[in-house]
Amino acid sequence: MDDRQRIDDLVNRGLLDQWYAVAKSVQIKPGKPYAVKALGRNLVLWRDTGGNLKCLEDYCPHRGARLSRGEITGDHISCRYHGVTLDGTGTIVRVPAMPDCALEGRRAVASFPVAESNDAVFVYVGGHGQREPPPLALPEEFTNPEWTSILCVSPWACNYRYALDNLADPMHGSYLHANSFTLAFGAKQDQMRIERTGAGFIVMRVEQQGRNFDWTEMVTETAAPYCRLDIPYPDAAGPGGPFRIIGFTTPVDEHNCLVFFWRMRKASGLAREVWRFMYRARLEDRHWHVLEQDREMLVNMPPDARKREMLYQHDVGVARIRQALVNKAKAQLAGEDAAAARSAS
Ligand code: FES
Ligand SMILES: [Fe+2]
Repeated sequence: MDDRQRIDDLVNRGLLDQWYAVAKSVQIKPGKPYAVKALGRNLVLWRDTGGNLKCLEDYCPHRGARLSRGEITGDHISCRYHGVTLDGTGTIVRVPAMPDCALEGRRAVASFPVAESNDAVFVYVGGHGQREPPPLALPEEFTNPEWTSILCVSPWACNYRYALDNLADPMHGSYLHANSFTLAFGAKQDQMRIERTGAGFIVMRVEQQGRNFDWTEMVTETAAPYCRLDIPYPDAAGPGGPFRIIGFTTPVDEHNCLVFFWRMRKASGLAREVWRFMYRARLEDRHWHVLEQDREMLVNMPPDARKREMLYQHDVGVARIRQALVNKAKAQLAGEDAAAARSAS
């Protein structure tokens, strides 16, 4: 396989050595295993008796049953098929059908570091080097108590790269969403400009700022990439500046992804409660509708649209996010090759 194909395959599957959002916190209920797929891997998540999350490959080492069909026994997970029980490190702690079974104590299944923040669960998917995971660095809005957020998660039947391209393309707001409540304003023609930031770039419209979805910051140089954008706040939803969207994208497999969008607002005290109420009552459905417009457009594009597209000046953000993914893939493959060479010598 040539290098370009290797890089493209890796980017399509999803880069390793990164943290990925995989579920809403509320989806993982005490006492129940939760199955999720990310980067082509079947995973099972559960909470131990202290509420801490555990994550293993969703595979019983005995004969391959899905652990997610089993049950939680204290801190552990037990396979439904013959009761083999594993702890959160993937070590077999009990083989109930066979006393003193030699499998006990064997670390038999991959485990994944897992963290929880702002109503979502993040899993670290390491590469072949199996380095210690870097800490999960999240957007400052997540840790700054001035912000409040409402999370919305949606499965999209397209490669995650389409979701990223879409986010790096502020121009589509004035067309695809032209009939929507919050995005109906603004010039239909513009130039795009890119500005580097410390950990990525901002793609922005040149002529128009603060009228529509006018810029996106893509934060790429981190182990938990995300994007940030502002939407002007419509008068009908009460006073206040723009509200912010923080988005994470997770490859499920090559043809599916999960998108996580936090709708955020800087507000405290009563204003916070009013905003949360107003958002749920008046805006949430409309935002679902806007997101559906994106989803509907992307899932109906051919999976290999990249091979035939004809880009023009507005697509500088699209080109830049793709370049960032390629650069990361190159670094990852170089690391893998170096590790393979070391182990061969
Ligand atoms: S397959 Fe899981 S215990 Fe047998
Ligand atoms: Fe959109």
